[in-house]
Amino acid sequence: MLSNSDQQEILRRRTFAIISHPDAGKTTLTEKLLLYGGAIHVAGAVKSNKIRKTATSDWMEIEKQRGISVATSVMGFDYQDYHINILDTPGHQDFAEDTFRTLTAVDSAIVVIDSAKGVETQTRRLMEVCRMRKTPVMVFMNKMDREGKDPFDLMDEAEKELGIHCTPVTWANGQGLRFESVFALDDRPDNLSGKLQEDLEMIDGVYPAFDREAYLRGDLAPVFFGSAYKTIGVQELLDFFVKNAPSPRPVKAEERTVEPMEDKFTGFCFKIHANMDPNHRSCIAFFKICSGKFERNTYYTHVRKGQQMRFSSPTCFMAQKKETVDEAYAGDIVGLPDTGNFKIGDTLTSGENLHFKGLPSFSPEMFKYIENADPMKQKQLEKGINQLMDEGVAQLFVSQLNGRKIIGTVGQLQFEVIQYRLEHEYQAKCRWEPLQMYKACWLESDDDAELQMFKKRKPQYMAFDKEGRDVFMADSAYVLQMAQQDYKHITFHFTSEF
Ligand code: G4P
Repeated sequence: MLSNSDQQEILRRRTFAIISHPDAGKTTLTEKLLLYGGAIHVAGAVKSNKIRKTATSDWMEIEKQRGISVATSVMGFDYQDYHINILDTPGHQDFAEDTFRTLTAVDSAIVVIDSAKGVETQTRRLMEVCRMRKTPVMVFMNKMDREGKDPFDLMDEAEKELGIHCTPVTWANGQGLRFESVFALDDRPDNLSGKLQEDLEMIDGVYPAFDREAYLRGDLAPVFFGSAYKTIGVQELLDFFVKNAPSPRPVKAEERTVEPMEDKFTGFCFKIHANMDPNHRSCIAFFKICSGKFERNTYYTHVRKGQQMRFSSPTCFMAQKKETVDEAYAGDIVGLPDTGNFKIGDTLTSGENLHFKGLPSFSPEMFKYIENADPMKQKQLEKGINQLMDEGVAQLFVSQLNGRKIIGTVGQLQFEVIQYRLEHEYQAKCRWEPLQMYKACWLESDDDAELQMFKKRKPQYMAFDKEGRDVFMADSAYVLQMAQQDYKHITFHFTSEF
């Protein structure tokens, strides 16, 4: 049994990610939260993990910044009676897949929206993942100190674009140059200007009261207004967040649902961070603890390999420091030094044969054939490709027709990263060949005969993903549409998990 104090440790954890479109204010907000937690003492201390709008050719610079970001990948700190873990997500859209996976390790999310720009593309995509996973979200309408959109229009836009019901918890007193403060709607100041009075009547008439159950189900997002830069409205968000955001939530495994309070440890790997030093091929595997307590130097089962492993220097992340820890609890993230034993999605347990679900691959946006450019180095190339795919750098598909390897990414940058890393870490050379491709779809059908027929008729479009699952590689929207129309009993999924 977990001791009482272990249980308290789990209950006080709040593990979340801040998601936004680049420049909406994620870094600034993170920093203000750390300041409230006393984890840092001066503004400007958070080294932005943000990858600035760099030209694609400058990806070395980007990788350098990613290197720095290991330390800021998870920022843990205490606030009031709570222990907060903020999981950082890369800002550059070419690493969106990293962000998708990080979202599988959080119990809730805060969405930051630039009030002048409204809901932007990347926020919309990330929110889709939250909706799919029913992750509870809170919304922070940032930059209210700038002339921006009308707050009611922002509320409408959030509801429509994010596909979630919204209700305001705070409201802005003024906007742009006249923005001074925010107030909680359930604690309204006495003297209100005519405009605010009107706003409040409208709010009362239109929006439902905050309902925590609906929030926890992922159906309702409480909305806050403020300015991260001016530190207005941030404390209101934080206080509400720690009280209402969920402590670690149950996690579904293929075999059963795992509850955080179970006394046995379980966890899964959601991210692998490679060392950029080519002479030193060590990584950090990030594990989300799903249940119980993780202890240093204790044997755990690496389920996929069926091996017992123990870890002498697991790290936890406190604010911006990495520290070796003796124990960590459900909700926490531990970093395990690794030399190639782990893949994304791997499970560690105290012995049980468990496989966590919810680490789907998403249909990539760009595809290229990868070819060997140095016949003497075929083995190295194979090994390099396999390891980079295990790390989750991109997705590999193999044509069922001719065995050619296809790499799918969410951005051009990843092709460059792969080519560079193959050369420098594996002494292998690759060449890219163009491939006209629209979407990769994972297939599901309750009519096996129809599925077999489909595969037989369309061999040129069929590939295996790295798990050996059938994937339909549609080269145009039209081809996909026709397939959907002609094969009514096949469902075409854009993620690998359904
Ligand atoms: P990101 O991590 O989401 O990409 O955004 P970040 O916090 O870096 O903020 C992007 C820019 O927006 C920064 O300006 C930041 O100072 C500014 N900003 C953030 N919150 C607010 C706010 O509430 N009000 C106003 N007016 N600006 C805000 P920058 O000029 O790009 O960088 P810096 O020189 O200020 O660091």
